[in-house]
Amino acid sequence: MYRMLNGLLGWMVGAVVVFALFSAASLAALTALAAVPPERGETPPAIAPDRAVALRHLLIQDCGSCHGLTLGGGLGPPLHRQSLADKPVPYLAAVILHGRPGTAMPPWSAFLTATEGEWLALELKGENP
Ligand code: HEC
Repeated sequence: MYRMLNGLLGWMVGAVVVFALFSAASLAALTALAAVPPERGETPPAIAPDRAVALRHLLIQDCGSCHGLTLGGGLGPPLHRQSLADKPVPYLAAVILHGRPGTAMPPWSAFLTATEGEWLALELKGENP
């Protein structure tokens, strides 16, 4: 009798363990699925939305102080899309990040990452999503 009970108990414990393992595994799988971002069909923007707001603010406030409030030119040349049409993004990003030595154009690399410099260049060219 005792032996039978013991056997039954062992079987039940085994079943519970298997069940627990199974649920843990499915839970892990579900969590992993939930962590995968939804399909976008394009690469996500490298700049977070709140950072983009801050960078647009920087363009008007800081860059605008030299390039004109509407970036139409002042101490610095105009930064409108038409004015920059023939200037490649990597060139503009380099000027923004490293400034132009010997002129009033200061380097911004202390405040901006390389990605942000490129984002600003794309923004000026009107090529940001
Ligand atoms: C203190 C004044 C000043 C500030 C602030 C300033 N710039 Fe400039 N920038 C200039 C000047 C002056 C030039 C032209 C340099 C030259 O003579 O080659 C220039 C040139 C540039 C150019 C090259 C334009 C071209 O047609 O080749 C870009 C791009 C530019 N600035 C972007 C920016 C951005 C973006 C900011 C803000 C993050 C900024 N600038 C802030 C003064 C400034």
